[in-house]
Amino acid sequence: MIDIVLGTWAEQAPALKPLRREVFIVEQGVPEELEWDEYDAVSRHALALIDGEAVGCGRLLPDGHIGRMAVRKVFRGRGVGRMLLAALVSEASGRGLSMLQLHAQTHALGFYAQAGFVAEGVEFDEAGIPHRLMVRRLPS
Ligand SMILES: CC(C)(COP(=O)(O)OP(=O)(O)OC[C@H]1O[C@@H](n2cnc3c(N)ncnc32)[C@H](O)[C@@H]1OP(=O)(O)O)[C@@H](O)C(=O)NCCC(=O)NCCS
Repeated sequence: MIDIVLGTWAEQAPALKPLRREVFIVEQGVPEELEWDEYDAVSRHALALIDGEAVGCGRLLPDGHIGRMAVRKVFRGRGVGRMLLAALVSEASGRGLSMLQLHAQTHALGFYAQAGFVAEGVEFDEAGIPHRLMVRRLPS
């Protein structure tokens, strides 16, 4: 049973910090100083729980950028990421945002495409990882 909980950075940081450290800093080699930024404090965060254990996360910035999507390795491929993304899209819709954007790691293009995001522009480097811009327009 997967639960998705939306909250602020202050509420969720104790769960989000070890989760993002495990996936982005340890697994993917993202430099620590790039992982933590000023956008966490102003974002709406989504935390996925299985039997109360934090297994995945993502965030929505006020301007419609989605980011920091991460699911712990052993919990991938079970629909956790899909549920997190759906919760963030729903949150954006509720706020009346008309467009969502994200910087997708190229290996995850298919994951976001399943959720209606479309790649735009050329590949670029972020934190040493190849990315592409993806967008999804929301009905007004
Ligand atoms: C990308 C990530 C968040 C996906 O989470 P997940 O829980 O494994 O994804 P789900 O199980 O919800 O998959 C949803 C759908 O996307 C597909 N999918 C998942 N990962 C995919 C990938 N890397 N490439 C293509 N399709 C993918 C699944 O097959 C599934 O499709 P289906 O509905 O036909 O079965 C997860 O792999 C992850 O945390 N990766 C490491 C961190 C990372 O790269 N984050 C993205 C930064 S842009």
